[in-house]
Amino acid sequence: MTFLGRDLTDIHCFTKDELFFILDKAADIKRAIEARQISDYRLAADRDLIAALLFYENSTRTRTSFEIAALRLGMRTTGFSSTEGTSVKKGESLRHTLDMYEAYDCDAVIMRHPLDGSARFAADHLGIPVFNAGDGKHEHPTQTLLDLFTIREHLGRLDDFDMGIGGDLKYGRTAHSLVIALSKFSNIRLHLFSHQDLALPEAFMQTLVERGVSVETYDDFAEMAPKVDIFYQTRIQKERMPDLSEFERAKAISEFTMKMLNTTRQGFGLMHPLPIDKSAPSISPGIDAHEKALYKRQAGNGVPTRLVELALSLGLTGAEFAGESWEPPRQDEAFIDELDVVIKPRRTDVSIRPIRENGVVIDHVQPFLEEVLIRLLGVRERRDIYRAATVKSIRRPGNVKGMLMIEDREFTEDELRAIAAVSPGCRVNIIRNGQVARKLQLRLPERITGIPQMTCPNKGCITRIEHEESVRPIMIRAGSDRVRCYYCDQLMTSAGMF
Ligand code: NCD
Repeated sequence: MTFLGRDLTDIHCFTKDELFFILDKAADIKRAIEARQISDYRLAADRDLIAALLFYENSTRTRTSFEIAALRLGMRTTGFSSTEGTSVKKGESLRHTLDMYEAYDCDAVIMRHPLDGSARFAADHLGIPVFNAGDGKHEHPTQTLLDLFTIREHLGRLDDFDMGIGGDLKYGRTAHSLVIALSKFSNIRLHLFSHQDLALPEAFMQTLVERGVSVETYDDFAEMAPKVDIFYQTRIQKERMPDLSEFERAKAISEFTMKMLNTTRQGFGLMHPLPIDKSAPSISPGIDAHEKALYKRQAGNGVPTRLVELALSLGLTGAEFAGESWEPPRQDEAFIDELDVVIKPRRTDVSIRPIRENGVVIDHVQPFLEEVLIRLLGVRERRDIYRAATVKSIRRPGNVKGMLMIEDREFTEDELRAIAAVSPGCRVNIIRNGQVARKLQLRLPERITGIPQMTCPNKGCITRIEHEESVRPIMIRAGSDRVRCYYCDQLMTSAGMF
């Protein structure tokens, strides 16, 4: 996939080569801006390009640095920095607001929105590049690019170092994108500090484990400080917490103090995406002017990195890139294995009465999930005749399995997909004239969509019905019986989505 037209919704979709390419270009741009070599960075001077900045949440740095990047590039900007005064206040959906900026022939959308997964939705919905300036508690990939830039600027490398990340690892989107990005480089030793309530969510931890990143977690902040080359502190995300006692507990132990700074390694760098909440300072006042405090320079790096991101997606630079490009993973659509049917005499030793003539038997269902299948297949609403139970397997009495038998019923492909999603590994026996006519073994599909009862358990996800954004959930396989939400990356068991 080339850079031209590319969305920047999450940090997954860059190879290491692409990340280095962006950072190298940003270093050139930074030098050019400092020297005011205008022709080296005003790459859109004769293109009449307009960037729409749609900020549904507060922002100082991200919005301003994107705007300055666009202006220096030679673009003009439009949009809003708060929903106050917009039709969002009249109840307009995200979809309809986005449509307008495309209708006005804007060339790029830069969006910050409170719902997790809103950036992916926007990117899929629009034909112009979308830049995620923060979607809920999910990701903040353009922040990560400036973070990587700053780390490399300070240490001279992006591999083989000790990286501490602290503060709010649960709701902090900057930490989420950063850990994913760091997992692409070699020999990074991650040291995580947070209140136990604010630990890194499982989906991100799983990616780190899969990629073999060494992760150590601490419950004592002072113990971590001397062990890292860079410490990335974050603000406790009070506004995202359903319960403010969580904030009070975390605040009490999350301040990075001058005493801690004095125990850090030589060459140590203290980073922070900012802002610092003065009522709960994540870094003690007085540290700002210290030579180890990098966060002002870090914020400044938002302009050259974002300028390059815009320029690449708009085709103003980057045609010479020759490294490994990111490719979206291929999807294997098959989820049904047809098993051989062995004709056997009717069993009389079974505890559930068999299908009389025609119907289906779903067997080897994960125990106690028959009820989920009954709801999903609308068995009661249709007044189907059925029998369901969690039973002991006759052949292996130690094994317990669920079974569901429905008289006079056949399944559509969508229904089979839904059954496979609820209980991967189950078997569907199609009974005709009292005999098994087909035996299907179902695997978890790669992509699960179009099932009305399916919900993402993350209450902040754009697909949740209460947000009224009419975005249908899509789940992606993440292991033999696990799935993740395509939009917000929430990880769940396959049964957890019903
Ligand atoms: C962060 C954000 O919005 O996620 N700010 C930023 O973009 N620099 C961090 C925060 O708000 O705490």
